[in-house]
Amino acid sequence: MCGIVGYVGKRDAAPLLLDGVQRLEYRGYDSAGLAVVADGGLVVEKVAGRIIDLQAHLGERLPQGTVGLAHTRWATHGVPNDSNAHPHIDCGGTLAIVHNGIIENANALREWLKEKGHRFRSDTDTEVLAHLIEQFLNGSLVEAVSTALGHVEGAYGIAVVSTTEPETLVAARFGSPLLVGLGDGEHFVASDAAALLEYTRDVVYLDDGEMAVVRQDGYEITDLQAQHVEKLVTTLEWDLAKIERGGHAHFMLKEIMEQPESIRNTLRGHLLEDEGTAKLSGINLDDDELLEFDRIVITACGTSWHAALIGEYMLEELARVPVEVEYASEFRYRNPIVDENTLVIAISQSGETADTLAAIREAKQRGARTLGIVNVVGSSIAREVDGGTYLHAGPEIGVASTKAFTCQVAVLALLTLRIGRLRALSVLQGREIVQALQRLPEQVAEVLSQADRVKQVAETFMRAQNALYLGRGYNFPVALEGALKLKEISYIHAEGYPAAEMKHGPIALIDDMMPVVFIAPKDAVHRKILSNIEEVKARRGRVLAVVTEGDEQITELADHVITIPESIDPLTPVLSVLPLQLFAYYTAVRRGCDVDQPRNLAKSVTVE
Ligand code: AGP
Repeated sequence: MCGIVGYVGKRDAAPLLLDGVQRLEYRGYDSAGLAVVADGGLVVEKVAGRIIDLQAHLGERLPQGTVGLAHTRWATHGVPNDSNAHPHIDCGGTLAIVHNGIIENANALREWLKEKGHRFRSDTDTEVLAHLIEQFLNGSLVEAVSTALGHVEGAYGIAVVSTTEPETLVAARFGSPLLVGLGDGEHFVASDAAALLEYTRDVVYLDDGEMAVVRQDGYEITDLQAQHVEKLVTTLEWDLAKIERGGHAHFMLKEIMEQPESIRNTLRGHLLEDEGTAKLSGINLDDDELLEFDRIVITACGTSWHAALIGEYMLEELARVPVEVEYASEFRYRNPIVDENTLVIAISQSGETADTLAAIREAKQRGARTLGIVNVVGSSIAREVDGGTYLHAGPEIGVASTKAFTCQVAVLALLTLRIGRLRALSVLQGREIVQALQRLPEQVAEVLSQADRVKQVAETFMRAQNALYLGRGYNFPVALEGALKLKEISYIHAEGYPAAEMKHGPIALIDDMMPVVFIAPKDAVHRKILSNIEEVKARRGRVLAVVTEGDEQITELADHVITIPESIDPLTPVLSVLPLQLFAYYTAVRRGCDVDQPRNLAKSVTVE
């Protein structure tokens, strides 16, 4: 939800902290601040608004000092304003803390600390931590943090500096992501690697219940009782260029246009054409184990949940395995029927979504084998599942997920091949799917070459207040995804429905003001959706249809069409979603919306 950066080194901390936290702004951006230990004192500056507002507030007055921390916020407790912005300090102003997560017993701790004479300046749960550490500070900052955290319930990623130990930064993680960046005579902490890629690619990921004590000349990882913990150093693949906009107006457009390459990266090394199957070494399951499962549960949130629905259709139709798709936030609390014969798959771009992480832990507790389909290497979900596959889609910075979705569907097709060839798919059927997957990157490029056309269509719909998205079969989840994209970045209310469901209610909404987007490729249910389009046209609805090249019937009926090349039914969603991503993007740009950082949203939802 929030972004944290910390630095201990020989260079001026403030410019590094501002640069690093700017790269994390997609995690939350309603207020920001930094703290620098300078000349035995602590300088804290914070404002409501974006990093740019903080830079304007600081102007030339950057605090001088080589130890500090910074934060960009996504408010959970306390409205976005100057006093609720992070960092928060103790009564004496000698220590500062930044936090990502939620302290669930903050109110009780606040009352206890007030009785002890502490005075609070904000409405946040985080400030409680500052006073709690102050309460236990008796010489060692590390011990004070460790003792304080022993009283805390909830999720946190924190970083703390203090004038009592001006050369030390203490960080700790329980539930929210945090890593340490290793430099030469300098060290960093951050919520994710994007903040420090410019300075180092060697990092140590913290696990839940771990602390990092960071100094200029070294670092130590301990558990919450300050006992030493041995950790691996990971060298990151991604480089800085990968997280820059590459000349595009927005990260979202860059990531939409990257999809031919990202899908190629997802498929690389997995396709076995002769055997008509896929190789997925990371899942840590052999043929016998894959045959043991009597059902699959796929759990996720948001866009990843839409990809999961397509996975259900594929696995049931082609691998003949019963599949259920579960909202992670519901799955974790509803006492699901899951056991050692269930394979539970978590889909998450960030690998940090709290509900999905908790769903995986719930499934493991009930004896299920767990797999992760994740994009961010080294993320919490990737490290907690029994096996999995990375998307290799590259960093996705735009809050609205695009390339991760198409790569998730591609991985689900690989998994369907792997399991299907063991259960129901013939080598010829398998080869057909492999060849269709191999054609995808070029076909995706072909669809994206129509971007200008989509821009024109978006122009005609940009004043709409509402929109309906309708699809059938494999493209019903695409209708949901298209509606979500439009909602989250253009703020137009939109709903996705199975096209046949329309007659059971939503058709009442249809009039000449209602844009209706049909996802209608030439697939097994094409004839059915044709009549649904006629029903909408009969009520003067305005129709934008995504159709297969050469589809004259729908072209005659619809007001606007965007064409996609032919593919096998299970893979049409990878092509049919592209015009919907572009449509939402151009509509949002035309309406002057902040496409990369839409209001009220954050890239990875690390709290419940
Ligand atoms: C999608 O555009 C949104 N950003 C959101 O719905 C997202 O898909 C959801 O929060 C799940 O995120 P994850 O894939 O990182 O777990």
